[in-house]
Parts: sequence; structure tokens; C-alpha cells
Amino acid sequence: MSAYVEGKVSVLQGPGVFLNPKMASLRDLSVLFLKTYPLSKDARLLDATSATGIRGIRYSLEAGVRDVTLLDINKAAHRSTVSNLKRNRIKAHAFNKGIDEYAATCRDRYDVIDLDPFGTPVPYLNDVMRLATGDSLLMVTATDTAVLCGAQTSACIKLYGAKPLHNELCKEAGLRILAGFISRLAAQFNRGITIALSISDMHYMRLFVRMQHGAEMALSSIKENGFVSFCPACRDFSTLRGVAPVMSSKCNRCGGQVEIGGPMWLGNLYDDKIRVAMRENIAEVHLHSAVQLAQICAEPDIPFFYSLPMLSRRMKRGSVSPNRVMETLRDSGFTASKTQFDKDGLKTNASLEDVLYAMS
Ligand SMILES: C[S@@+](CC[C@H](N)C(=O)[O-])C[C@H]1O[C@@H](n2cnc3c(N)ncnc32)[C@H](O)[C@@H]1O
Ligand SMILES: [Zn+2]
Repeated sequence: MSAYVEGKVSVLQGPGVFLNPKMASLRDLSVLFLKTYPLSKDARLLDATSATGIRGIRYSLEAGVRDVTLLDINKAAHRSTVSNLKRNRIKAHAFNKGIDEYAATCRDRYDVIDLDPFGTPVPYLNDVMRLATGDSLLMVTATDTAVLCGAQTSACIKLYGAKPLHNELCKEAGLRILAGFISRLAAQFNRGITIALSISDMHYMRLFVRMQHGAEMALSSIKENGFVSFCPACRDFSTLRGVAPVMSSKCNRCGGQVEIGGPMWLGNLYDDKIRVAMRENIAEVHLHSAVQLAQICAEPDIPFFYSLPMLSRRMKRGSVSPNRVMETLRDSGFTASKTQFDKDGLKTNASLEDVLYAMS
């Protein structure tokens, strides 16, 4: 068995234990995130789905988190976690338990919880909330992107209580559906949320969610939920906050039949202080993570974007240069940038009319 090295950590995988080297970029960003996040010195961290233990070990060795607990329901994974802790000379608590069993028996509460399950995080989030304090940080991965991005609408409605989109906006809508779900669940525990960082890449989504205790906070983050209306004919979109807002079934711009997605989080996806601090330390991560981070840091924090190829097709013209369109919009005083959610997407506060004019 050969060792796998990532960051300052070297782990052995063990038969039947999960380890995906392609997720190294996400682990890099999570470590960098924790290094920039204002954690107290005695913060307690729970790696709730440890597998080899690579995350918990990296958080301890590289982000300086001193009190780490690692859980895995799988025996082989637990054994691998224990031997990798030893291998990296880390003192931590490790248990061969499922999150539900642990939440039912454990009296400890954690300041940071990393949840990185196979597929959807939904079945675990209730127990994660029980293991959290009112002010914890949750780092949650979802790899059920087909569900969140609208390839399986009924599964999304069933799991997340939300209607997904199945068009160019689907990845951002999916991530916002996940955030909306977490905000509504947190509210049941009398907690509000803000999103410190959001990442969408390859087959996963990842949210860094900061909770704040209190009924008012809970209610105000519920109010950050709402719906998006998307017109497949002219590709325009609009958003409306509220639990049951009145939305027209026709596009305001062209009169076409719109598709409505939600409820979903329409609030911020980033904390600017964290983005700036992470950007300052971009040299610490590998190329793929650095490219991702640069993109995330450049992105305006506003809901949704225009797909330039879809607009070009609609205008029955060849491809346009995204840089030229962005420059034209910026010259007219708008913000305009690419987006992590679509390599051909344009995030801007300009209207569709202004974008079409800039493309002409
Ligand atoms: C995607 S892997 C985690 C990968 C790891 N975080 C990493 O970065 O390499 C998911 C892990 O969750 C574990 N798991 C599944 N259900 C669980 C549960 N109910 N409680 C705790 N662990 C669970 C699996 O055994 C598996 O090792
Ligand atoms: Zn329209």
C-alpha cells in the first residue's frame, strides 16, 4: 500500500476506504478557509464523515485546530482514520459511529462541523444541527448535483422541498436550494445563517455556513429565501424574496411562459472579508484551487447570470468575446465578471437589454 500525500499530510487508504485525490483542491480550499476564519484557540472540530481522516488531520496539522473528533460509521474507515492519526502524530478522538448514533449519545457540542457524505447531506443535517452550537460553522458538501441541478426534479422536491431549474442557471440554483434548505432547518433550531463561502466545481457543491443564535436571526435568514423566474424564450430572469410571493407565469420582457425555481437562498454567497483573506494567501494552494479561488473572489455577489452562448444563439449570431462584452458593460458603469457556475456565464447588474446592446 503506497502512501498518499496531500498538503502536510501522508495517509494510507486501506481496502474499501474512500479517498478521492480529485477532491484535493476542495480540501485545500477548506484548509485555507479555516486558516482565515476567526476561530477561537480552543475551538472543537468534528469531521463527521472521516473515511481516511484526511480532512480532520489536515485541519489539525495545517489550520492549527487543536481539538478534533473524527467519526465514521464504516469499520475499515475508522481503522484507517485511527492509523492515519498515529502516522501523522495527531492526538484526536475517533469513533466508529454513525452521525445519528453519535448525536443521540454525545454531550459535546462542536464549533466547526465538516460533513462530506456520499451524495446528499440532507439525512445527516438534523443530527449535525444537534451537535452544533448556536454559533457554529458548518462545512457541507453535496455530490447529488444531478438532483440539485434539475435532472431529477421529483427527487429534489422530495429531499430539499424545492423545485430545481434544468437550464444554464441550474448549478447556481442548486447551490442556492441547498443553502435555502439549511437556512430553513437552522431556523427550526432558532438559528440564522450567513454563507461565508460557496464553491461549485466538477460533481460537487460545498457551502461554508456560519450560524447565529436567536429567533430574530432565524427569521431574517428565512427572509433571504425566495424564487427565481426564468424565461426559456428570451433567457431573462428575475428573483423575488418571500415565502409565497406572487409571481407572473409570463415573462415581463417577452410574454413567454416562465419556469419558476425555489424556494432557495437569494442572499449573499460570500463573506467579503473571508474572500479577501483567502485571496491574500492564494499562493498556499495548488493551481486548480488557485484558479477556482481567483474566480470566486472576482465574482459579484448577486443572484444569477446570463449565458453568452445562449444569448448569441437567440440573436442568431456567432460567438462573442466575453472580455469585450464585460469591458463594454464596465465602461457603462456596470459590474461584470465571469462566474464559477458557468464558464460562459456573465454576472452583472446590467439588465438583459444592456447585455444585448453590449453584445451587438
Ligand atoms: C465521501 S466519504 C468522506 C471522504 C473524506 N471526507 C475525504 O475528504 O476523503 C464519506 C464517508 O462517510 C461515511 N459515512 C456514511 N454514512 C455515515 C454516517 N451515517 N455517519 C458517519 N459516517 C458515515 C462513509 O463510510 C465514508 O467513509
Ligand atoms: Zn422572455
